[in-house]
Amino acid sequence: MCAIRAPRAADHKGFDLKPAQSLADRLDQKVFAAIYSRSLVYNTCWEDPAVDRQALQLSSSDTMLVITSAGCNVLDYALVGPRRIHAVDANPRQTALLELKLAGIRHLDFEEFFAIFGHGRHHRFSDLYGKRLRDDLSPFARDYWDRRVNWFDGRRASFYFHGLSGIVARLFQSYLRLRPQLAAGVSALFDSRCIDEQRHVYDTRVQPLMWSTGMNWTLSRQITMSMLGVPMPQRREVIAQHAGGIAGFVRDSIEYVFRCLPVWTNYFWAVYLRGYYSAACCPEYLKRENFAALKGGLADCVRTHSCTVTEFLNGTDERISKYVLLDHMDWMSCYYPEALAEEWAAILDHATPDARLIFRSAHARPAYLDSITVGTARRRLREALSFHDDLARDLARFDRVHTYAGFHIADVRR
Ligand SMILES: C[S@@+](CC[C@H](N)C(=O)[O-])C[C@H]1O[C@@H](n2cnc3c(N)ncnc32)[C@H](O)[C@@H]1O
Repeated sequence: MCAIRAPRAADHKGFDLKPAQSLADRLDQKVFAAIYSRSLVYNTCWEDPAVDRQALQLSSSDTMLVITSAGCNVLDYALVGPRRIHAVDANPRQTALLELKLAGIRHLDFEEFFAIFGHGRHHRFSDLYGKRLRDDLSPFARDYWDRRVNWFDGRRASFYFHGLSGIVARLFQSYLRLRPQLAAGVSALFDSRCIDEQRHVYDTRVQPLMWSTGMNWTLSRQITMSMLGVPMPQRREVIAQHAGGIAGFVRDSIEYVFRCLPVWTNYFWAVYLRGYYSAACCPEYLKRENFAALKGGLADCVRTHSCTVTEFLNGTDERISKYVLLDHMDWMSCYYPEALAEEWAAILDHATPDARLIFRSAHARPAYLDSITVGTARRRLREALSFHDDLARDLARFDRVHTYAGFHIADVRR
């Protein structure tokens, strides 16, 4: 789910820290800050761009602001051919990952690119990196990947078992090795090719073995959630809405995904559970014809920026017609409410008259939409936006990630 850059004294421009209320909050904030200021958190995007495309209705005249995360969805939107995509992320390590993908698109052939970002490993990565990718990177990204070439060379684990969320995936792999019957069930699940078959496999071979006391306990720990990018406030939102707590919420999400949506196109869960994509089950940017289209010019619309959304907007005159804001506002609304209000003011200031925004949340009705006010008339945020709730509800049913209680599509109200 969500993360935000940990504010440091030297770059604490965008966020005004609100004193956290409890010791647990303060501790969570510190743990989160410590791991997030040093780590690549997302090695793949955990939001479904097929749903986003339908919500956004992109066209060649669109200028987008997209929070980068792992960059997969930036490349997905680029395939539609918008005028410009500003990929903005407060964590420069996330930008470094998108830079590496862009350099790969420019300088590698499809087989090399797919081995690196599809299989998560290439036995000659070090050579390819040094000779063809490194010079195309910013100084930060170069320094970052210089020290992490082994993440891709396949000698240890796939790239998708690196980064914070990758460590959780790797732990799950180790757990599966201890539970061979469950591992066989999971493998059979991903081999299913029709819904009835996958539902039967899930109900008989995965579900009865999966939800042990140990699994529920592990999922309920804040440290597990922090590694997956879920801070305490977001976890609390889930607990407040769900009788079964975090473990119950995750279980319901997984049951919906594996009992109701086709598993053979669900590359989100496949990569976390297996550590690699297949040619048939992968993000759009990893498909041969789409890679060629990106290489042929579609990727050129992407500009990367390592800064907060507010910092980016305050430094540009460009108008934005499509915003993809992910779920970062859940955490900001709890720990940095003033910074979030500032961010919304900048978002609305830079929006074209017909601008559309999408964002996700752990809550179906995030409280910040009512608590934040914008503009000189101090309108509540909810009144400054016009929501497409029916469309969002319809599309959310097909969301292959399915771990967000709220999906929001809104137009700016003038
Ligand atoms: C919003 S979260 C959620 C990720 C998303 N759910 C996914 O799986 O792809 C991820 C990214 O947002 C970035 N981020 C959080 N707050 C931000 C802000 N105010 N401005 C720019 N980037 C931000 C974090 O650094 C992180 O890389």
